[in-house]
Amino acid sequence: MPDNHHGLNQMSVNLTSNDVLGMAQHPALKLAMKAAVDTYGIGATGSRRLSGNHDLFCETEERVAQWVGKPSAVLFNSGYQMNSGVFSILVQKNTLVVADKWVHASIIDGLLRTPATVKRFRHNDAAHCEAILQKMASEFDAVIIVCESVYSMDGDTPPIHDLVRLKHAFGAMLVVDEAHAIGVFGAGGRGWLHEQGALEDVDVLLITFGKALGCCGAMALGSHALSDTIKRRCRSYIYSTALPLPVVAVIQSSVAIVQGADALRHQLQANIQQFKALVHTESSTHIQPIIIGGSDDALALQRALNRLGYDVRAVHHPTVPKGQSRLRIIISATHSTQDIQQFSAHLTTKSAPYLAHVG
Ligand SMILES: Cc1ncc(COP(=O)(O)O)c(C=O)c1O
Repeated sequence: MPDNHHGLNQMSVNLTSNDVLGMAQHPALKLAMKAAVDTYGIGATGSRRLSGNHDLFCETEERVAQWVGKPSAVLFNSGYQMNSGVFSILVQKNTLVVADKWVHASIIDGLLRTPATVKRFRHNDAAHCEAILQKMASEFDAVIIVCESVYSMDGDTPPIHDLVRLKHAFGAMLVVDEAHAIGVFGAGGRGWLHEQGALEDVDVLLITFGKALGCCGAMALGSHALSDTIKRRCRSYIYSTALPLPVVAVIQSSVAIVQGADALRHQLQANIQQFKALVHTESSTHIQPIIIGGSDDALALQRALNRLGYDVRAVHHPTVPKGQSRLRIIISATHSTQDIQQFSAHLTTKSAPYLAHVG
């Protein structure tokens, strides 16, 4: 594994953090955390099935469900814990799961723990998804289609309306991970699916609070029946100490701030457009991969930019396919026009020896 942390001590501009709205350092959230520690103490002291439950958990779940626009929600300690557990309660006997080739590792780990037959369709290729369904769906009692709304390593978005059509055509359940979209897209930050008018067609929506919400934790949203089943049967929910209450309090405060943060979302979009105009990339979201190819080249480019004061990170196989090592640039609302201008100029110069397509 190449060393990915070389010379990061004196970074001045962070282009690698998922905290794209600046919530992790928000003064009101720092105060909320301090006040909540005084009110609640530190640890939850147990699983929510035992001593760890509190009204604050249920209140936060209700508020988030209302914000996002789903009937019900269940809080997990992290997105990994959610995704690696939730499929165990979605998969019935004789279930076919058809998942995009590039869904997050946490989803794959979750699926591997189930008896489902798992087929992967080529990334964002709804025709391939349909071909798999046509060939196999009739042999199964249940079918689940899985995708993300913003892919974590490429920043691209799925052909959601085609996948919704397939869900209806094959009587499938549609599960979408919005980890990188919640708070960032849609009116009031309700997410990319909301913006696309596809939220209602999604049966299980998976969101996290560790990215644009600047905190940690995750929620699975859907019907009341889904929440009940998770709370009764999902092992990664049941067999783990609940999140500290101050964290839950901050999730609730962060949601309230992010809901009203249209100005920050507009700033983020403006920053993305500025970066794209200067570097000519394909992704239209805050995740902007610069694909270099070889690991050593990607790492050399990372180090060259690190030395100039930019915290950027190279990502390698197996997180991305072999030969597609890249810099995973993340644009934030907190970047200034000058930050983006100067970084883009340095990126263009430093990456020129490694590739032809950065303009
Ligand atoms: C698409 C996606 N889902 C889930 C997760 C896991 O979330 P968490 O960091 O809260 O464990 C990530 C994190 O990288 C992710 O990118």
